[in-house]
Amino acid sequence: MSKPKRPKRVYICCECGHSEAKWLGKCPECGGWNTLIEEQLPTETEAQHISKSPHTAPQLLKEVDLAIKELRISTTLNEADRVLGGGLVPGSLVLLAGEPGIGKSTILMQILMGLANNGQKVLYVSGEESLDQIRLRAERLGSIPDKLLVASETDVNSIISMTQQYQPDILAVDSIQTLYHPNIASAPGSVSQVRESAARLMGAGKSAALPIILVGHVTKEGALAGPRVLEHLVDSVLYLEGDRTHSFRLLRTVKNRFGPTHEVGVFEMTSTGLKEIENPSKLFMSQSSSGMPGSVIVPCVEGTRPILVEVQALVTPSYLGTPRRTTTGFDSSRLALLIAVCERYLTGSFYNKDIFLNIAGGMKLSEPAADLAVAAALYSSLRKTAIPANCAIFGEVGLTGEIRPVGHTKLRLEEAWRLGFQACIVPAANIEKQGLSNNSKKQIIPITKLAQLENFAINKKQDIIKN
Ligand SMILES: Nc1ncnc2c1ncn2[C@@H]1O[C@H](COP(=O)(O)OP(=O)(O)OP(=O)(O)O)[C@@H](O)[C@H]1O
Ligand SMILES: [Mg+2]
Repeated sequence: MSKPKRPKRVYICCECGHSEAKWLGKCPECGGWNTLIEEQLPTETEAQHISKSPHTAPQLLKEVDLAIKELRISTTLNEADRVLGGGLVPGSLVLLAGEPGIGKSTILMQILMGLANNGQKVLYVSGEESLDQIRLRAERLGSIPDKLLVASETDVNSIISMTQQYQPDILAVDSIQTLYHPNIASAPGSVSQVRESAARLMGAGKSAALPIILVGHVTKEGALAGPRVLEHLVDSVLYLEGDRTHSFRLLRTVKNRFGPTHEVGVFEMTSTGLKEIENPSKLFMSQSSSGMPGSVIVPCVEGTRPILVEVQALVTPSYLGTPRRTTTGFDSSRLALLIAVCERYLTGSFYNKDIFLNIAGGMKLSEPAADLAVAAALYSSLRKTAIPANCAIFGEVGLTGEIRPVGHTKLRLEEAWRLGFQACIVPAANIEKQGLSNNSKKQIIPITKLAQLENFAINKKQDIIKN
């Protein structure tokens, strides 16, 4: 009599999905430490069952029937629509990711309530919360709409049959890490469960032109918990970000098959849910520190939206062998580079100073246009002299101390003028390219070299900026 076959075991990296026959401390594919997790491979019969799919014949593209009637379904939250590129696309799979407790379920519920109020039939399946908890949250967020169905379920097959039975217009699942496929032995949240559950839902959604919103958790390092393949599988990935100590939240597109990426929506967390902020520039500028040494305002552009952000630097003598360099909201290696350029091209020494850099309001700055503002904040703090409060600064700093042009000059300037700034220091190349000129009230100050900053950080030149 032959022995029953033991199920095969495999070690899968939870960061990149790479599989190995033996456990290893470091993933050979992505280099992650301690990321290989033991999983059971499906037996042959299970695998056949999972992969069995009906044969589909190719069709002429011209003759493909458009099952999609509306091109976009508005989520009723303008900021969410902006991030999605105009609304939900029928049949699309959207992944809404974020850290634990950041507000994913809240924004999802607000979107679903808006859709249901607009007459859409919505099915919200939660594997994390009970129905009364869902109701409690919904009551806090507004009046409960008529066409909002809720269910507490974690079996992906039951969810798919639920959609077939109730035929919703939109399906939302909170969260993908709680779902399981009964044919796979590993626990919910494991790589194979997450991957299979998402693939199953996608198959069901695409065939019925049903838009699906999945909630996903991200790890402490900021990566999506579960395999990277999940990001490849879905049509759009939205990240809800924010600093726990601040009330604002950013909804950011990381991937979008049907719209622009790097769009952001800005919200504020309140007791009645997330409120859209139409004028985010005010949020990221502290009125009290403007005009103080080390404080500089930079008009940055997130997606297509300009936002004025305050950069704060503190440069103090160091009493340590290796001076401290601490940064919040800005890349530390970029800061090291800027310190080196400032050391070379500006007067004063940074090598024996502790340097702290903070982007006010918990915002993260990643675009090169912030370089010049960071350099100005460092220099202004070093010399204890303020950059005039009514002057904004942007530009990329090169390694030879040159100021390089950046994109969206007009947008940045318009936002600065709109918020009452009287002057803006900009890369000279931008002005030449776009033919911008000073108008009667506002002053554009073009610069080509970092050394020219010294003229503005010192009060004696303040008179060039009209009050
Ligand atoms: N009454 C309230 N007043 C103000 N803010 C609240 C209130 N209740 C909840 N919040 C905010 O909502 C957040 C939790 O939101 P939510 O449950 O949507 O997060 P989540 O990302 O879904 O979390 P999880 O990962 O645990 O599912 C809290 O961190 C808090 O900031
Ligand atoms: Mg939640």
